[in-house]
Amino acid sequence: TKEISNREQKEAVAAKIAERVKDGDVIGVGSGSTSYLALLAISQKVKEQKLRVTAIPTSHEVSLTCSIMGLPTSTLLNARPDWYFDGADEVDPKKNLIKGRGGAMFAEKLVMKSAPENYILVDSSKFVSFLGEKFAAPIEVDPRALHLVETELAKLGAREVTLRMAVSKDGPVITEAGNLILDVRFAQIADGFEKEVKSIPGVVESGLFMNYNFEVLTT
Ligand code: A5P
Repeated sequence: TKEISNREQKEAVAAKIAERVKDGDVIGVGSGSTSYLALLAISQKVKEQKLRVTAIPTSHEVSLTCSIMGLPTSTLLNARPDWYFDGADEVDPKKNLIKGRGGAMFAEKLVMKSAPENYILVDSSKFVSFLGEKFAAPIEVDPRALHLVETELAKLGAREVTLRMAVSKDGPVITEAGNLILDVRFAQIADGFEKEVKSIPGVVESGLFMNYNFEVLTT
């Protein structure tokens, strides 16, 4: 049998989420390649059916994409999302997630928590048997706290801590909030770990989404 490519799987899930769009919806929009395909499918439906839909983007890139696609945008200060969709890097059997390959997890978590309904769109490559199987956990850190956070993470069992470097420019990745990202490999990511990481002073947010309320949509 011919395996369906990840891209085809993402497109199929994107079509599924576009079916949920109704006139008047305020939709939180996640970042990443799956969210991009979903946004494309949604904007096509909005155009064809002349729907009034507002997007709440989770990154500058998504905001720009919405503008290019002709979708009006708002912010969490001005509107409440009716629902939110996003991708993920890893989904474990308990429906915990690692997100943030694109560095947008801070805004993604804010919008997800603000929305009463959430959908995580994933292709089959995203399912893992434990968190951290494929991806390091990204942690957004205030630059002043870099050394403190590294020290505290070591106490929490961090095995490998890497400052995320930019690909297309010199130096580290700087997030939209002006922070740094540490990609961290842990010996084990136990329940409650998200809160422990978050309690280190200087940690702005992590890409660990543990015990959140969402439906996983896949092909
Ligand atoms: C963006 O910061 C991430 O949280 C993405 O949602 C995640 O990396 C999934 O991206 P893809 O849809 O590109 O795999």
